[in-house]
Amino acid sequence: MRSDANLAGPMADPVPGPRSESAGGDVSRETPPPPLVDNDAPIGAAASFAAEPLARSGEGLPRPAQTRVIVVANQKGGVGKTTTTVNLAASLALHGARVLVIDLDPQGNASTALGIDHHAEVPSIYDVLVDSRPLLEVVQPVVDVEGLFCAPATIDLAGAEIELVSLVARESRLQRAIQAYEQPLDYILIDCPPSLGLLTVNALVAGAEVLIPIQCEYYALEGLGQLLRNVDLVRAHLNPALHVSTILLTMYDGRTRLASQVAEEVRTHFGSEVLRTSIPRSVRISEAPSYGQTVLTYDPGSSGALSYMEAAREMALRGAGLHYDGRNAHVGAGMNSTQSMAEGIQ
Ligand SMILES: Nc1ncnc2c1ncn2[C@@H]1O[C@H](COP(=O)(O)OP(=O)(O)OP(=O)(O)O)[C@@H](O)[C@H]1O
Ligand SMILES: [Mg+2]
Repeated sequence: MRSDANLAGPMADPVPGPRSESAGGDVSRETPPPPLVDNDAPIGAAASFAAEPLARSGEGLPRPAQTRVIVVANQKGGVGKTTTTVNLAASLALHGARVLVIDLDPQGNASTALGIDHHAEVPSIYDVLVDSRPLLEVVQPVVDVEGLFCAPATIDLAGAEIELVSLVARESRLQRAIQAYEQPLDYILIDCPPSLGLLTVNALVAGAEVLIPIQCEYYALEGLGQLLRNVDLVRAHLNPALHVSTILLTMYDGRTRLASQVAEEVRTHFGSEVLRTSIPRSVRISEAPSYGQTVLTYDPGSSGALSYMEAAREMALRGAGLHYDGRNAHVGAGMNSTQSMAEGIQ
């Protein structure tokens, strides 16, 4: 794995590559049709529109000097790990970064959401972990988003937790595979399963940063202590660089008092690790995977797309030690109060 020296400096303007014709600016029932930019491909135009808030902000995103390997983990199920992984990855790629998503969940949801073939015969992350196959041989480009790649998970991965137990260096197999990956990358995002088994441990050994999505619901913090203890254990014994860098509030519904109470509790508990940007509950976000798309291409003008773009911006700035002004931190949540009502009655 290396970070390309030429990539240093502000990210290039988003120049979406060839896109499929499967979605366009008229998908949204959440917002008025986005003003299409001068771009022939509907998806390309839509993606450019999604990138506009950044362009409007007048600043490019800094690229990390070294590849940032970010583990998206929370052993609680259904909190938005996969959704966050694929949409943050797509947002970063739309701003010119080169991003690899590693699907480490046997459910293969991240692969599905990125439109990546992951039936049983497809070379996958299972082959990398169990048979030491080079990562390069399983990585596929994501068709809709230039600069975005995915190492898919197949159902084989369900057996890997047990098969890994008897293998040499069972906790560091993913780390070794990533270190041997020679392609230039700015970010690697690893989507973990909802457990703290050997797959998640492999991710924690491979990455330096942990991103914990927290759903703004009752019991949001339940079980987090266990995850944090595991992070401490891995840091102490296997990976001194590991730290929780980012907490992201997901499925925030600004209409409910519960959501704001949970958000406040999380901010009190974790402080500066919590991104100022939160992700609103959005029907568009939940619909996108069934079209094999991220919300960034499925409905670029939606509150969900804008909020993930903003979260990516905040992460990139914070990672570079730059000030994040937060002026768009509520870009999604602000829209949410009226628009999610519209979504809710569809
Ligand atoms: N902001 C959101 N608004 C609406 N629905 C969402 C949002 N984020 C996630 N969802 C939906 O919630 C469900 C759970 O999300 P997701 O699959 O990302 O969670 P997960 O933590 O990866 O789950 P698992 O633990 O099973 O891997 C999915 O149906 C997803 O579409
Ligand atoms: Mg998941």
